[in-house]
Amino acid sequence: MTDWFAGAVAEHYDEDTTHLPVDLVVDALVELARGGAALELAIGTGRIALPLAQRGLPVSGIELSPDMIAQLRRKPGGSEIPVELGDMATTRVDGSFALVYLIRNTILNLTTQDAQVACFANAAADLEPGGCFVVEVVVPNTRPLEVFDLSDTHVGVDEYDADTQRLVSHHFRLRDGSWERLSVPFRAASPGELDLMARLAGMQLRERWSDWTREPFTAASASHVSVWEKPR
Ligand SMILES: C[S@@+](CC[C@H](N)C(=O)[O-])C[C@H]1O[C@@H](n2cnc3c(N)ncnc32)[C@H](O)[C@@H]1O
Repeated sequence: MTDWFAGAVAEHYDEDTTHLPVDLVVDALVELARGGAALELAIGTGRIALPLAQRGLPVSGIELSPDMIAQLRRKPGGSEIPVELGDMATTRVDGSFALVYLIRNTILNLTTQDAQVACFANAAADLEPGGCFVVEVVVPNTRPLEVFDLSDTHVGVDEYDADTQRLVSHHFRLRDGSWERLSVPFRAASPGELDLMARLAGMQLRERWSDWTREPFTAASASHVSVWEKPR
């Protein structure tokens, strides 16, 4: 499995994501965890896990990229978060959790349906009864090519094949005066397909918002935050 976040990507990850919400995400996750322990699949540099831990929740993680974990370890509190190095579709961790979460479209980094189904099963296995699995992800666009970002320092273009649901996100970034390209493969999945994966894993949909403001999900929503519950 390719580590797309190695090297310079890990090094620049935090500065490249300063525009993303943190407090809104952490507030929602704190409520959903109800004082219990949380597990972040694809914990990355701890962008969300660290502020969540600062709110008093025990937080653990699974992460594929050693360089992303190294960034987490450099931060205050970063060495206290238990992290298993491995694939979130198959890696098991000790303990059981009130909340398992997987955000920033990372479910789509699993590029086969089998791997996404396995990831839902793995999340369900880590949950205590009544616990919930939270996924934040875009609603796939259906156009073969779409520019999703256009600024002076970054251009993002999605290339989508409706036949295979294969999506490639091309990032062109201006760094130190020269343009760098990174093209990362994904597998797009609709909210309905993710609901089915949750059902296969024995979970049911509890809530679906359009984003972390917790506005209701509608036909016009470009993304969703979905909360599936493991029955008691
Ligand atoms: C977009 S970043 C999100 C990081 C963090 N969750 C956040 O919100 O900032 C995606 C992360 O997923 C990790 N990742 C990708 N595929 C993975 C897999 N199969 N298992 C575990 N981690 C994975 C990457 O290494 C990277 O750290």
